[in-house]
Amino acid sequence: MKNFKKIGIIGGGQMAEALIKGFLKKKIFKAEDILVSEPVKERREYLKNSYNVNTTKSNVEAVEKMGLILLAVKPQVMKKVLEEISSYINPERHLILTIAAGVPIKFYEKILPPKTKIIRIMPNTCALVHQAISGISKGSFATEKDLKIAESIFSAIGETMLVDETLMDAVTALSGSGPAYVSLFIEALVDGGVRAGLPRVIAEKLALQTVFGTVKLMLETGKNPYEVKSMVTSPGGTTITAMQEFYEKGFPGIIISAVYKAFLRSKELSGVFS
Ligand SMILES: NC(=O)c1ccc[n+]([C@@H]2O[C@H](COP(=O)([O-])OP(=O)(O)OC[C@H]3O[C@@H](n4cnc5c(N)ncnc54)[C@H](OP(=O)(O)O)[C@@H]3O)[C@@H](O)[C@H]2O)c1
Repeated sequence: MKNFKKIGIIGGGQMAEALIKGFLKKKIFKAEDILVSEPVKERREYLKNSYNVNTTKSNVEAVEKMGLILLAVKPQVMKKVLEEISSYINPERHLILTIAAGVPIKFYEKILPPKTKIIRIMPNTCALVHQAISGISKGSFATEKDLKIAESIFSAIGETMLVDETLMDAVTALSGSGPAYVSLFIEALVDGGVRAGLPRVIAEKLALQTVFGTVKLMLETGKNPYEVKSMVTSPGGTTITAMQEFYEKGFPGIIISAVYKAFLRSKELSGVFS
């Protein structure tokens, strides 16, 4: 990192671990420049032994020692953590990054000192294999330079995309929850194969590689979903027969309305923190 050579991470859970792995792999931070604050002793020991990072049980120590702070605790404990660290935050020195789902930037700005720079990031669980897509939004006092810092940090776990915070509920509904929708589709695809007589283990391999290969095909050739669909849909063939069933049973409409309902639910949950 150009401006911040060190990072303090508050909350040493799954997401924090995925990020640490990415930081080390992409050489964004060195292990000795990462300080993780985590309440559970066994977890601290695990992180220290696995990645050689520094750990502490004190959130205040992380804030006192580090200028760049990543908040990686669950949304329901965020208020408590912010109240604990607030008087140690110096808006001139600190940049706060947060990945808590559904917590709007104004919630942090209300509790932390005036003019604190905050960047909100919505990654997804694909971070575990460095294939996340992270939506990134800036708070009222963060600068374009701060956004660049966040982008470069989150490139450690996959792709990044700058979005206005007003779009964060939509990002949550699509890419945040998306891995569950795709999993459901794959599960059904496997069951379809089993229904057609394939042993489950073979159906699973076929389904996974088909989804993976289709995504890779789109990414590498730039072909959009309509074009790829057309490529495999020959006149009077098997694929168009399946497509007719999908349309007749309302498959595309179900997906659109499921994403929209997730969006509404995300808005509703964000309201809890207003
Ligand atoms: N996982 C995802 O796919 C995903 C996607 C997007 C956003 N996020 C967001 O990322 C954040 C972290 O999620 P996660 O899946 O990594 O959760 P997690 O595994 O539960 O990690 C949270 C960690 O914070 C620790 N913690 C609890 N209270 C604390 C406190 N007062 N001070 C410091 N640390 C504390 C927890 O310890 P205990 O185990 O003792 O509670 C736990 O190790 C959440 O806000 C979530 O909304 C996650």
